[in-house]
Amino acid sequence: MTGPLAPPADPDPDTDTDLATDPRVHAPHRLGDLVVAPVGWGTLPLTGGYGAAPGGRTDELVGRLLDVVLAGGQAPPLVDTADFYGAGAVEEQLGRTLGHRRDDVVLAGRGGAVVDGPGRPRRIDGSPAHLRRACEASLRRLRTDHLDLYSLARVDPRVPLEESVGALHDLVRAGLVRHVGLSEVTGEELRRACAVGPVAAVASEWSLVSRDVEADVVPVARALGVVIVACSPLARGLLGGGVPEPGEGDYRRNHPRFAPGNLPGNNRLARRAAALAAAAGWDPAAAALAWVLGAGDGARDVVALVGTVRPAHLRTACAAAHRDLPPAVRAGLEACFPVGGVAGDRRPRVPGTAADPTTAPASVETASSAERDARP
Ligand SMILES: NC(=O)c1ccc[n+]([C@@H]2O[C@H](COP(=O)([O-])OP(=O)(O)OC[C@H]3O[C@@H](n4cnc5c(N)ncnc54)[C@H](OP(=O)(O)O)[C@@H]3O)[C@@H](O)[C@H]2O)c1
Repeated sequence: MTGPLAPPADPDPDTDTDLATDPRVHAPHRLGDLVVAPVGWGTLPLTGGYGAAPGGRTDELVGRLLDVVLAGGQAPPLVDTADFYGAGAVEEQLGRTLGHRRDDVVLAGRGGAVVDGPGRPRRIDGSPAHLRRACEASLRRLRTDHLDLYSLARVDPRVPLEESVGALHDLVRAGLVRHVGLSEVTGEELRRACAVGPVAAVASEWSLVSRDVEADVVPVARALGVVIVACSPLARGLLGGGVPEPGEGDYRRNHPRFAPGNLPGNNRLARRAAALAAAAGWDPAAAALAWVLGAGDGARDVVALVGTVRPAHLRTACAAAHRDLPPAVRAGLEACFPVGGVAGDRRPRVPGTAADPTTAPASVETASSAERDARP
């Protein structure tokens, strides 16, 4: 029988993980004219949507997280955020905390998902006018004059993709953005976008349990020289060794994988993978990250974004870039999650109720009513 899991302890951020491992394993990647560390920090959990941060969501905590990710690699880390995370609150927090360290990170933002009121995004707007306004507002909140990477949060079915991508290139020409990115697109959409102008990065959920991108987006990105940003590489916490049943307000309540009928079985698979990793001397989350860093055909061109509010966990993640996952462990982990073995789709149950709308299929017309219906 699988009962709820205890929340993880928050060990001393400075003593839990040894980074003094081989620095050559995963080298920094080129992102346009920038270099970027293989592991970056994703700020979605700062919304509180995966459970509250220990000690709250404080500037001091965010400062410590920045310290850790900045110390973790041989190149500036990607720090990923979006204007709809906490309806702008996460950008404001980063803006307050980054300060003189702004240029030490590769700052990535996303626009196009609209939060009209309290709660999560309700619709997608990929129009040039909205993207310009959204980018300018993000820059104000982030207290910076440019974003290093700015991505379309999701393709707006009412706006030709070429128009949205053209608008992002206008932002580059205006000096507000250095590089254009996309998120949760198909391989065909990526090709169309690249025909408009250079696309530096494409973000998609990619992990041991979410491998659909390998058939479509990844080969196209590799053919076109676009960096692949693996989002939710720990399957929203599952690959840390399992997660407790999501509580009230936890975004994962909307995700079929975390539904009461699916979570116990998925946790069993995750525990089996964790045991396999531990037997090989790996922390389960580090093994899952090392897996994605070398995933696909082992091209080592992936940037893994780990979402966490715990400095110790971020340290573990950064350390993963310095160790190579032995092929036998890699194969063993893959065998723990056979195709069809994980129950429930990776996308949220109702379009428009996602923690990150880029993981839901675009359905702008149904999003607002679905969001309303899903609200308590
Ligand atoms: N562009 C897009 O479409 C898109 C979509 C989704 C996400 N993203 C970005 O990608 C980032 C990463 O994805 P994500 O945050 O959804 O999910 P994730 O990184 O797969 O998982 C985050 C969860 O894993 C837990 N965790 C982290 N390190 C751990 C460790 N060492 N051991 C055990 N548990 C650990 C975190 O809990 P603790 O906080 O307790 O560590 C958190 O609840 C996001 O934050 C966001 O910036 C982008």
